[in-house]
Amino acid sequence: MGDSPMLEQSLAALESDALARIQAARSPEELEPVRIEVLGRKGNLAQVSKEMGRLPAEERAAVGKLLNAAKQALEEAIEVRKREFAQAALQARLEGEWLDLTLPPPGAPRGHLHPITQIQREIEELFVSLGFAVLDGPEVETEHHNFDALNIPPDHPARDLQDTFWLKDGHLLRTHTSPVQVRGMEKLGPPLRMIAPGRVFRNESVDASHEHTFYQLEGMMIDREVSVAHLTYFMKTMLTAIFRREVTVRLRPGYFPFVEPGFELDIRCLICGGAGCPVCKQSGWVEQLGCGLVHPNVLRLSGIDPEEWNGFAFGLGLTRLVMMRYAIDDIRLLQSGDLRFSHQF
Ligand code: PHE
Repeated sequence: MGDSPMLEQSLAALESDALARIQAARSPEELEPVRIEVLGRKGNLAQVSKEMGRLPAEERAAVGKLLNAAKQALEEAIEVRKREFAQAALQARLEGEWLDLTLPPPGAPRGHLHPITQIQREIEELFVSLGFAVLDGPEVETEHHNFDALNIPPDHPARDLQDTFWLKDGHLLRTHTSPVQVRGMEKLGPPLRMIAPGRVFRNESVDASHEHTFYQLEGMMIDREVSVAHLTYFMKTMLTAIFRREVTVRLRPGYFPFVEPGFELDIRCLICGGAGCPVCKQSGWVEQLGCGLVHPNVLRLSGIDPEEWNGFAFGLGLTRLVMMRYAIDDIRLLQSGDLRFSHQF
């Protein structure tokens, strides 16, 4: 018996060991020494080939065949491993270079709605769900719509209550959103359910609680037999939605020429619950809005018969509401355009 079975055995062991090491290599740098050790000129297989020379000729042929097969298998395994490395490297490079042109630029800050717009939209949504139309009106108004049609005659002292910006051509910047009531009655007629948010202007000296430009939201409902109970119901529903909790309301007499009776509507102070605190100035109540039943003259001036129809109207200060909601103590901040301020909402 010659050396051949032994040689065959060690060849098989060598091959399986080499295959395992090829698989275990994690990079071309780790693979190359394995290749040299196994397949190199002075490597393991070369060694076997040398020893094979000592075998008798008939055994040599058989071992030679096995040797070639092992060499081929190992070379192939190394090629496969190399291709895997190349593939992985390409993959990594592509991932590094991948650029999704449809993505928004990273870090571009998203804007958001101004707190006044936010509160305006909330109230709009509520009233739309109650069957009210949202109307818009011009900021540059006629004297007729801003005053006359609202039962404020030319020489009436009520005109002085609202310091007006007059334009040279006799128009004015609307001092309240109430002219949109008139436009609503003119355009739609009774029955009518409308609100009108918008910007209003008054010629006032500016301080922490007075601005020349601010926001109001007007509301009007005209139907048959509308009562103060309806008015109270809608106001309570609105304020509960705005403050997101049950509110207690109270009406005080208030004078506005376009409503009779006219009221100032207060809510029980949400800070102290009515016990008295600096926010309600120890009174337990906080004034919210002006309202009342539409004056018959106002209906008549817009061509609506007050014998057949009546209604309520209210005017709410949106700017004030935002200040209350967020405890903002200076009205000038709201339109300052200062991003440090607006980014807080
Ligand atoms: N227009 C009034 C104001 O600006 C508010 C108001 C509207 C009062 C509707 C009563 C009815 O103060």
